[in-house]
Amino acid sequence: MIIAVDGTLASGKGTIAKALAKAFGLAHLDTGALYRATGVAVVEAGGDPTDPDAAEHAARTLDVEAIDEAKIRTAEAGLNASIVAAQPRVRQALFELQRGFAARPGGAVLDGRDIGTVICPDADVKLYVDADPSVRAERRWKELTAKGETVALATIAKQLAERDARDSGRADAPMRAADDAVLLDTSQLSIDAAVSAAIRIVSDKT
Ligand code: C5P
Repeated sequence: MIIAVDGTLASGKGTIAKALAKAFGLAHLDTGALYRATGVAVVEAGGDPTDPDAAEHAARTLDVEAIDEAKIRTAEAGLNASIVAAQPRVRQALFELQRGFAARPGGAVLDGRDIGTVICPDADVKLYVDADPSVRAERRWKELTAKGETVALATIAKQLAERDARDSGRADAPMRAADDAVLLDTSQLSIDAAVSAAIRIVSDKT
């Protein structure tokens, strides 16, 4: 079984994907982490994330096992991720890796922006998770603040709008719900309620 979970940032898609993997005994790949790690690698090598050569090189040489969670979860890493993710050569470089993961014999849950549309168009279940921008900004702000990052809510809201616009406006694999995706709006839902709703959707479809 392959489950595709796409959606906007801080919509809860990552938490939902993890919970689905656990509930249905599937492997889980957070594909956003690949783009984040690519951006971090470019910056650490002294490069510029907007440079297609540097970004492609970082994507092609990415060591998935060595991804540093602390480094890739900052607000800056998120912004740089969306910059490298808009480049077709980077998406191409990470394509096979994601396809390979999805083809695991035991099945998999992948979360990202283009899983249901590009990476796994034949997924058994597709979810598209979204929430009001103000709710998402507050969630992300709380997350970053809890980790000790000092950042204003207004700054987060601005960055979120910027990333949404870049992710949905890019020509290659823009963020969008697949035609056959089930939409899940988590604006009014607690984490537990959102996870329960997602488990129900998958159970109904399989
Ligand atoms: O989900 P997360 O916020 O970690 O993703 C970081 C960035 O990576 C997104 O803003 C998006 O630009 C990019 N991304 C993507 N396609 C995916 C997953 C993430 O373009 N499948």
